[in-house]
Amino acid sequence: MNTDRQVVVVARVLLPAGLDRLRDRYEIREGGLDATREEVLAMAPGASALVPDGSVRVDGELLDACGDSLRVVANFAVGFDNVDLEACEGRGVIVTNTPDVLTEATAELAMALTLAAARRMSDAERDLRAGLWRGWDPAAYRGIEIWGSTVGVIGMGRIGTRFARLAHGLGARIVYTSQSPKPEAERELGAEQLRLAELLERSDVVSLHAPATSETRGLIGASELELVGPHGVLVNTSRGPLVDSEAVADALGTGTLGAAGLDVYENEPEVSPRLLAAPRCVLLPHIGSATVPSRDGMASAVADNVIAVLEGREPPSRVA
Ligand code: 8YV
Repeated sequence: MNTDRQVVVVARVLLPAGLDRLRDRYEIREGGLDATREEVLAMAPGASALVPDGSVRVDGELLDACGDSLRVVANFAVGFDNVDLEACEGRGVIVTNTPDVLTEATAELAMALTLAAARRMSDAERDLRAGLWRGWDPAAYRGIEIWGSTVGVIGMGRIGTRFARLAHGLGARIVYTSQSPKPEAERELGAEQLRLAELLERSDVVSLHAPATSETRGLIGASELELVGPHGVLVNTSRGPLVDSEAVADALGTGTLGAAGLDVYENEPEVSPRLLAAPRCVLLPHIGSATVPSRDGMASAVADNVIAVLEGREPPSRVA
């Protein structure tokens, strides 16, 4: 039932766990998975709430298209690098995200990619499917073990810390970089905070869990991959722009880098053709949070945030 006819514009899609609750209260305009920028701009006028996902750029143009009615941008993601926070603040628009509900899912996917890349699973499975398996070979597909290795976590936030716990559970030493020291992780996991270059040099596995900001863009390029080394594994479930895909493809090709497990890319959904052809590389289509509880929890968090703001309350997860 629409009681006040406020408009919620869902730029692409929102799962029923959140959408159904919004539908009960507001008029919904939904763009669909294939909505173009022009279609989103055309749906925007009169919106009280805008629900983008991480692939929708929320800038001055889109905010202006929504108009003065807009009160909240409720991102359907924990990362919010797609949203121009200053432009929102300048227009008095609140910005929210979906933390916590995807921590386990994303950390588990990072660990799955770590194990898959460390054990060359992609190459091995591809060969088997292609009929290239000629029987057991003691020298084939040899990777590294997490037990006894050093795992470097770049960004010890919620997801990075959870990933560190999983790696610690498998018997790894934990080193990390972070903007601030993490005494709890140091106490409980024996984690050691390092500078980036030292972390890259000392780690057998390097996993990225930092947001995309002006400081982290291009964090891992050719010289950093050299430090990770010919037996090292690079894992990225954070944001594509942190890693130079072409440099990863080069380093895998020349053997400068041991293996890579990637879930995110610079220009999604495009993936570098050289990366697609690279060896010792597991590539996934941005599925870090793709579990039933996580995605339902994210959709529900979006609804909580929208409803709170439109009812004049503080939203549960405000970022600006
Ligand atoms: C989303 C994510 O699926 O939450 C995030 O920051 O990266 C993923 O969980 C994605 O951003 C949706 O576009």
